[in-house]
Amino acid sequence: DKAGHKHYMAKEIAEQPTVIAEAIRHYLPVGEDAVHLPGDGIDFSKIERLTMVACGTAFYACLTAKYWFEQIARLPVEVDIASEFRYREPPISGKTAALFVSQSGETADTLAALRYCEGKADKILSVVNVPESSIARESDLALPIHAGVEIGVASTKAFTCQLSVLLMLALKAATDRGTISAEDLQAHISALRGLPNVLTAGLEQNDTIRQAAQKLSEARDVLFLGRGLMFPLALEGALKLKEISYIHAEAYASGELKHGPIALIDKQMPVVVMAPKDGLFDKSVSNMQEVMARKGKVLLISDAAGLKEGGDGTWETIQMPQVHDSLTPILYALPAQMLAYHTAVAKGTDVDQPRNLAKSVTVE
Ligand code: M6R
Repeated sequence: DKAGHKHYMAKEIAEQPTVIAEAIRHYLPVGEDAVHLPGDGIDFSKIERLTMVACGTAFYACLTAKYWFEQIARLPVEVDIASEFRYREPPISGKTAALFVSQSGETADTLAALRYCEGKADKILSVVNVPESSIARESDLALPIHAGVEIGVASTKAFTCQLSVLLMLALKAATDRGTISAEDLQAHISALRGLPNVLTAGLEQNDTIRQAAQKLSEARDVLFLGRGLMFPLALEGALKLKEISYIHAEAYASGELKHGPIALIDKQMPVVVMAPKDGLFDKSVSNMQEVMARKGKVLLISDAAGLKEGGDGTWETIQMPQVHDSLTPILYALPAQMLAYHTAVAKGTDVDQPRNLAKSVTVE
């Protein structure tokens, strides 16, 4: 049932405020002022290192969470692609928590990576959408994301629910490790509780994004740039676009532009820049100017303050509401998804069932 939408993907994009509210309610029950984990939970004061492993979009959720765990909980994090991790057979010392992220909970490489960690890591955690999946069952602690069934092959609501749960887990780690002040914790918690409304406001940009996508659908190649928390999101935006619209898209950390990809810039090249007005904004603006000086077409996704300061000379802009700095990846995932979706619709591709792809990759 597509609930009146043309595609499951559109329905799942639209559902995000509701399912994220649900995920948040499970970990931050109403009236509580701390993160609650199911079962016996985990005490992060006993953990010295976190290893996160996943594939595809779930891997980008891990890359995003690395910033949170390191910055908020001061916990060293290693992130790896499951198919690399499992064959590299990396040394794993005690006091390491190994965390596996998977929507389906059945991805073959992720499951094999989990099994490799059994008996080596102190604790095996998973962040899954399907609670009865193999990955959930074989973990010491499975953290459900409460996204509901996701049918579209391109992961949307599972990604933002994964991010929400990972951010709450990072807040729990910060609390256990004493790296967050009571005030900061409360600021994060109230921002999380307000997130569903902010996401609803973000979804209202659908028509503007459809128009931008119309233009984007004519491109052969698209570059995505982001810094800090926006870098993994740039990777996710590029994956989403290529997966369903078949347009070649690549993502770089903005600071890497000068180290190679700038050679690609010409007047044919749309460059999607994701840059909320945060502490790194000025750096992103200077990268954008480098692109525009070479006639690249910049599509800037930012908030009102960012667009006011950096919007001049851009090709297209998409305005997102203002949100707590830590929450920007969850909010900015929406325009990335909508942009891919409308581009694919404009190209007439099979949005929910893109060629050559399966929803769950249970073979290597
Ligand atoms: O079920 P999983 O989360 O383990 O799946 C991982 C990837 O196969 C998946 O995220 C894939 O990259 C999506 N099609 C991306 O939209």
